[in-house]
Amino acid sequence: MSFLTIRVEQVLKRRSEFLTTHGLNVISVRAEPGTVAIAIARPNRRVLHLPDVWKKWNPICTHGNHDLLIAVREEDSSPLFLSPKSNAPHTLIAGSTGSGKSVLMQNIILGIACTNTTAQAKIVLIDPKLGVDYFAFEGLPHLQGGIIDAQDNAIHTLNELLGEMNRRYTVLKDNKVSNIFDLNKKFTATERLPFLWVIHDEFAEWMMTPEYSDSVSDIVGRLGVKARAAGISLVFAAQRPDANVMPMQLRANLGNRLVLRVDGEGTSEIALGEKGAERLLGKGHLAAKLEGASEIIFGQVPFVDSDFLGQVVEALKQAANSAPS
Ligand SMILES: Nc1ncnc2c1ncn2[C@@H]1O[C@H](COP(=O)(O)OP(=O)(O)OP(=O)(O)O)[C@@H](O)[C@H]1O
Ligand SMILES: [Mg+2]
Repeated sequence: MSFLTIRVEQVLKRRSEFLTTHGLNVISVRAEPGTVAIAIARPNRRVLHLPDVWKKWNPICTHGNHDLLIAVREEDSSPLFLSPKSNAPHTLIAGSTGSGKSVLMQNIILGIACTNTTAQAKIVLIDPKLGVDYFAFEGLPHLQGGIIDAQDNAIHTLNELLGEMNRRYTVLKDNKVSNIFDLNKKFTATERLPFLWVIHDEFAEWMMTPEYSDSVSDIVGRLGVKARAAGISLVFAAQRPDANVMPMQLRANLGNRLVLRVDGEGTSEIALGEKGAERLLGKGHLAAKLEGASEIIFGQVPFVDSDFLGQVVEALKQAANSAPS
């Protein structure tokens, strides 16, 4: 009996032949136990709509929720979660213009807001693009300080977070617990501390300004090491997280990598740690390297329709207004 064996290298070698002769666009070729997994682009891509994906999501959120549904896995259509509790506390999102960074961030913000009360989670949203992708979130009750679109305000807010982190450490020490999750189990509902999410879109845009770069590197460096225990999670997005806009130390702190289509192999190596993200299809096609997962996971980010977004934010505003104070 003879077995036909196929190797990753053989498939990679014939990549251009598959495209030119057979019209097959090979996106990724990966070795898995007993298998060579080959991902090929479909001729027509389907848009995944957020409400359809969320129908299969049953978060347990009695005490708030930190596990966010960010995509559907290519492999088996199961949901992919980002969790500052079981993955790294902080996340870097990278992708060239139009790759779907802001849509991914909208998924994250909506996920937080729909599975947490304002007492359970707060969001600091910083957007150098003057909030253009986030108008619909104006007035979202979870937003702390509205949509922050000025550098001095961002620095001020990040400094306040640093103060809050240090304050929380004192509370942890006084209560003899090592993290906010254990602390909140001890505390009554009114005493519990909210989880803080810092969402910074187009981060690199402002890092060109030395004053911003220096203060943010310093603050984020200090937040980075101690923030998980204090219940603070950073989610930063950039088109190209090169060394000139994102110092090594800063990049190292952002342990989870959500990489959308990037402009070349070099950027993929910086963002994902290996080549491959330059072959993604754009529009929310994702390669995720999450701390705690051994492999890169490929997936598709759901699309957030602006009508749906508006309706959800309106419903959350009304719920907050009618909640007993
Ligand atoms: N998950 C998705 N599913 C379907 N289409 C998407 C998805 N994500 C993005 N798109 C499409 O791509 C467009 C650009 O997406 P988005 O604004 O998120 O890109 P970006 O990476 O933030 O770009 P920029 O760097 O210019 O801000 C969207 O308006 C939408 O049409
Ligand atoms: Mg954007």
